[in-house]
Amino acid sequence: MDSDLEPKPAPHAAPGFFITFEGLDGSGKTTQLRRLAGTLHHEGKSVVTLRQPGGTALGDRIRAVLLDAKSETELGGIAPEAEMALMFADRAQSLRQVVRPALAAGNLVLCDRYTDSSEAYQGAGRGLGPERILAMHQAVCQGFQPDLTILLLPPLAGCLFRARRRNERHQQQHGVSENRFEREGDAFYERIYEQYKVIAARETERVVVIDEESGIPVIAEHILRVVRERLGRYAAR
Ligand code: TYD
Repeated sequence: MDSDLEPKPAPHAAPGFFITFEGLDGSGKTTQLRRLAGTLHHEGKSVVTLRQPGGTALGDRIRAVLLDAKSETELGGIAPEAEMALMFADRAQSLRQVVRPALAAGNLVLCDRYTDSSEAYQGAGRGLGPERILAMHQAVCQGFQPDLTILLLPPLAGCLFRARRRNERHQQQHGVSENRFEREGDAFYERIYEQYKVIAARETERVVVIDEESGIPVIAEHILRVVRERLGRYAAR
């Protein structure tokens, strides 16, 4: 589906392949990313994994400010626009220092979150609107999009349950929330969930939705099938 909102992908000519994982906190995407990386690595593929925010020296500092629950008190909160800009500052650095060089060297790059997270969390969750996020994506990332996005979208209630359980455990052990976002209420996550669905409906080729709740190994198999099929198509270009 084509629309004015659709970021115009700038297909990279690099020999590598760029895969992002998206979904809510508690969707299981990080577990699945690690499994996929392990499987592909085991098969002898060169795999580079990273997460956003973070993964560069600058990005790790930005991440600390963005996620630390203490930012609420020590910084007097973070304005939604500042949050958006910091996410993109992190992304710009990550593209320049890690993603583009790794793709140029022919690696498979697996990234935990990318611009879809900004569209869902800042665009919808914080209410900035998807248009502003996509404009920023054009300005800062030249519209650079992944070759494939695995969007883990199991029912919202399960995600919230798992994320809250994880956060409570963290709170018991460390005395603070695991991250600023996990302090938000259900309505925030509902908006994010809905925006992820909008992204998937808009970009049917790039985004593959996995919404089953069939257990970690079965979902891992599903993802592996999708990735193999896409890599096969890519190699045959
Ligand atoms: P993280 O601990 O990595 O959570 P998760 O395991 O769920 O990915 O924290 C990343 C948090 O940052 C997560 O709550 C989503 C949020 N985020 C945004 O709000 N916008 C963004 O552009 C990105 C990349 C992340």
